[in-house]
Amino acid sequence: MEVTIQGSNGRICEAVYGQFIEHILTCIEGGVYDPESPFADSDGVRTDVCRMAQEMAPPVLRFPGGTVMCQYHWEDAVGPQETRIRRKNLIWGGELDPSFGTAEFVQFCRKIGAEPMICVNMASGTPEEAGNWVEYCNGTGNSYYANLRRSHGFAEPFGVKYWCIGNESYAEPDIGVHHDVNLYIRDAMEFIKFMKLTDRSIRTVVVGCGQPEWDEPVLKALHAVTDYFSLHHYSAENHKGLYGPFEGERQLIDMLEQTAKRLDAYPEKVTDFSPWYRFPPRAGKIQIALDEWNIWNFAADETYGLLERYCWRDAVWTASVLNDILNQPAVGIANLAQMVNVIAPVVAEKEGAWYQTIAYPFLLYRREMLGERLQLNWEPLWLDGGEAGKLEALNLCAVRGEDGVVRVAAVNRDFEKEHVISLGEGEATMVSLTADSPSAICSREQCCVQRTERAVSCSQIVLRPGSVNLISLKSV
Ligand code: AHR
Repeated sequence: MEVTIQGSNGRICEAVYGQFIEHILTCIEGGVYDPESPFADSDGVRTDVCRMAQEMAPPVLRFPGGTVMCQYHWEDAVGPQETRIRRKNLIWGGELDPSFGTAEFVQFCRKIGAEPMICVNMASGTPEEAGNWVEYCNGTGNSYYANLRRSHGFAEPFGVKYWCIGNESYAEPDIGVHHDVNLYIRDAMEFIKFMKLTDRSIRTVVVGCGQPEWDEPVLKALHAVTDYFSLHHYSAENHKGLYGPFEGERQLIDMLEQTAKRLDAYPEKVTDFSPWYRFPPRAGKIQIALDEWNIWNFAADETYGLLERYCWRDAVWTASVLNDILNQPAVGIANLAQMVNVIAPVVAEKEGAWYQTIAYPFLLYRREMLGERLQLNWEPLWLDGGEAGKLEALNLCAVRGEDGVVRVAAVNRDFEKEHVISLGEGEATMVSLTADSPSAICSREQCCVQRTERAVSCSQIVLRPGSVNLISLKSV
């Protein structure tokens, strides 16, 4: 099958390789942070997990929730450990350990080279509390919260740029009243005022949900004061067999396309913003922050199915979704949710940490699939996904890197058949990831993912069944 490059469409935002950590089960406590572990460094951070986080190198890391944001008061978790406040974790069970608070999060971000992205509590918190959090993090003057940070041993501001104004506020069962879109709009505006008046340089992310009844009024009211529009997506197998999660992928593509259209209605430059707000409007186009995405097979038990063991099929889905994100110019941030233990690429066991299958496509793409976004053209090849419906066998995307090299990420989602593509003349190198079976899983003892690297002729590139391939064309 002939694949041709049609042109280019902007640059990939590196922040699409972001990740997320929450106070949820053992993601932070017992995952990232575990002072009792033999792997812990002097900050209580697990060095094995930290090394893997450095290797995945998310440019953005979101914290402290997620849903737990509904009850999170940042002042509980700053300053001397002995005066911090421990509360019941009302959302995920157990306790909300305050040992890993704002400063520890920012230090962890520094260790792994990520920009911190903080989600503020709109449910039981106030706009003033959120503004104070901005001042604690970013304040440079002689004001109370900037001095409080200094008194905690941090002379330099943390410089937190990304701030999420609530989380999934449309969800009626979650704490808070903001599932009423008018209340969300009213209160989000007040949060943004307090926060932007404290630091006009911050970037805000308002809550979207992919439904017009919510998204349209939110954008109409808040478009001038938000830089990003948040969307979340979790696919599941839904008892639909091997191709089950790919049905969710189609919904995700659709949601991204619809949202991109909606955002296009708002001009790049805001011209009619009252100076009486005393902070500037957004500068530039509103972008999508897909700030949680993954496969999550929800289960109605005490762990909510969050301790997922991902199989090779899930890694093929992950690579497909990375392609979808890279192919959509409206996406400015995307966070694989979450980083450790909970629906995560990394599992931290007492004896050591290891990667699940879904980490491997992420690692393969992270440093290579960047640069100018190229548009590809090919004749779709349809595959019968059984109960999940029909899907395209191949999912492709391409970039031209800073080094001028064209890289094509080619995912063969057909677990039965190989497919052959042609990218024209010349030579290429191809890194391929596969496994013995779509149901193969990794463990601490054994990695099921096989990696091969070989020279190929561009006119005849064989994509093995159920494979993730990164093809680097030799520059001419
Ligand atoms: O990532 C797990 C949960 O999924 C998050 O807390 C919430 O935002 C989403 O529903």
